[in-house]
Amino acid sequence: MKKTLALALAVVMSLGLLAGCGGNGGNSGNTSNPPANNSTSQDQSGSGVASSIPDAPEGGGTVGVCIYKFDDAFMTTYRNSLQEILKGKGYKVTVVDGNNDQAKQNEQINTFITQKVDALIINPVMTSAADQIIGTVKEAGIPTVLINREPTAEQMAAYDKLVYVGCDAAQSGTFQGELILETANQGDINGDGKISYIMIQGDPENIDAQLRTEYSVQALKDAGKEVEQLNLTRGDWDRNRGQEIAANDLAQFGDKIEVIFCNNDDMAIGALQSIQQAGRKVNEDIYLVGVDALDAALNEVMNGNMTGTVLNDAVGQATEAVNQMELLLSGTTYSSGNQSVYVPYVKVTPDNAKDFVK
Ligand code: GAL
Repeated sequence: MKKTLALALAVVMSLGLLAGCGGNGGNSGNTSNPPANNSTSQDQSGSGVASSIPDAPEGGGTVGVCIYKFDDAFMTTYRNSLQEILKGKGYKVTVVDGNNDQAKQNEQINTFITQKVDALIINPVMTSAADQIIGTVKEAGIPTVLINREPTAEQMAAYDKLVYVGCDAAQSGTFQGELILETANQGDINGDGKISYIMIQGDPENIDAQLRTEYSVQALKDAGKEVEQLNLTRGDWDRNRGQEIAANDLAQFGDKIEVIFCNNDDMAIGALQSIQQAGRKVNEDIYLVGVDALDAALNEVMNGNMTGTVLNDAVGQATEAVNQMELLLSGTTYSSGNQSVYVPYVKVTPDNAKDFVK
């Protein structure tokens, strides 16, 4: 029930977003009227379905989905949602695990091309591989939606049947900073006039990690706060790494640490274990924030064990990715500078956390 509601909300949000932000401003196709269905699914309605649907893509509705690695908490929610939506619409979908290996993902993309899929949805392993991926799908002429790792506008401009669906990573960082500013002592627990923090970073090659790191602290500075970075360590989005890094830093810096910024929730959940082992108490003698709004993190926000998080809307992004894929399949093309479609982040506090539990 909650899932259905969330999905309905996501659809409404993405419609509003399309109408409001003009993410498709340069489209030459009819963006307000995507094809209703592209189903060729044999198990749902037998053969011949495609011919009964005028807008169905020639050759059938097969979609290849490349995920950078399955062993990532947020991308697991995202890929499950993508699969559910695509299957619900009758597409034949294959989702593959890149195992965090760009060479492997390149092979997977080539295999999908050889299999003549109608569309690709790709979560690149490396942002730096964008040129190569875009060149490959362009040469094959396959409509492609990139997700989760945003290339530059210049890179995307190379191919007009390509669009990026994601979020404005800077916004999530700003929200993290605001969560700290909204606490009783605005992050300055020991009252020494500065906010002393450690930063547990995701994969630094990823723009989400770069911008969250920058903008979380920028929000504090913009509010006129003095800040002190005690340490910054890459944790590659991983819970165990979050736990190890927090344990080391708590041992090294002790009570000096007033805030732990984590670029995502999985690392924050790991950090929480170390905070508790060190006998510290979140929201009393230390603050802890993440991003994603994983269910586990939402529970900790509600229990007072995390200061807050930021909703990284997996369902909303999956819905929008499929929507954009259907626009591409119906002939929409994109012009340079209009190839990124953003789904908004939402700040999550104990007051609204329950609204986002899946
Ligand atoms: C981020 C997300 C992280 C991780 C990463 C993978 O948007 O917050 O948890 O999934 O994407 O690229």
